[in-house]
Amino acid sequence: MSISGKAKLAGVIGWPVAHSLSPQLHSYWLAAHAIDGAYIPLPVVREDFARVVAALQRAGFAGVNVTVPHKEAAFAVAHDLDEAAQLAGAVNLLLFREGGRIEGRNTDADGLAASLTEDLGKGWLTGKDVVLVGAGGAARGATVALAKLGAREIRIVNRTQAHAETFARAAPPHIKARLKVFSWTDFAPAASGTALLLNATSAGMAGSPALDLALDALPVNAAVCDIVYNPLDTDLLTRARAGGHRTIDGLGMLMHQAVPAFAAFYGETPKVTPALRAELKKALRHG
Ligand code: ATR
Repeated sequence: MSISGKAKLAGVIGWPVAHSLSPQLHSYWLAAHAIDGAYIPLPVVREDFARVVAALQRAGFAGVNVTVPHKEAAFAVAHDLDEAAQLAGAVNLLLFREGGRIEGRNTDADGLAASLTEDLGKGWLTGKDVVLVGAGGAARGATVALAKLGAREIRIVNRTQAHAETFARAAPPHIKARLKVFSWTDFAPAASGTALLLNATSAGMAGSPALDLALDALPVNAAVCDIVYNPLDTDLLTRARAGGHRTIDGLGMLMHQAVPAFAAFYGETPKVTPALRAELKKALRHG
């Protein structure tokens, strides 16, 4: 589709950014809604982040999505933050507002919550326990989502236990779920009796080693969710499926986190559909 001189502009800032599916995702919706707009991949190194954001703002961009490794830097440049961003301490969406103000939002948590709800059903997690692997920015967002879905206890397991301890201490006091830290070697007791295992680490991503945790202690009716989407069938999900678990891949979260971003950039609320999923799967296959 061609664009005019009045096209609405947005994009995704990351390093690297070549693997991001966000340009395909937003371009799909731009075409579906026949919007005069574009969504650009923006490879930006850490030290240039603040300067590039200021330049995009001056160039009239509506805003940008922010991915690894800039989510904390994006938090720092925002003048206004929504509650999810404050809770997660990280921003994945910057919106350039009137008067030079920058609004920072975090749509990852709501994206994950929407994806889990879509796959598991409304209210499914209420009162249940979850084992959460990871203690980085993604895990922070996941904690917010799990608490919002009514999880009773979130058991945090992280390769470096000290990070998990810091993470649990820094968690906002009004998070309703109980947070408990288990050591990596205590994964079995942590997984026992849970309804959901959620991988919020980068383990299993193309180029990273697989998540090295045995699933034996996980109840067979527990679901397994991986936020990694490249590859879509991670080693964790493949093993989980073989063990009879329900699985939820990372594409759901990716698609759902993009809905409010698209609405804010271009003024129309898009839909997450099977056709969109098929399009993104095709893009993943073709690298
Ligand atoms: P993000 O913002 O994407 O969460 P991050 O803040 O760098 O990124 O956090 C990465 C998370 O993945 C951490 O929990 C990290 O564990 P450590 O705290 O021990 O570093 C986890 N991680 C990365 N690679 C891993 C691997 N191969 N096995 C297990 N955990 C891994």
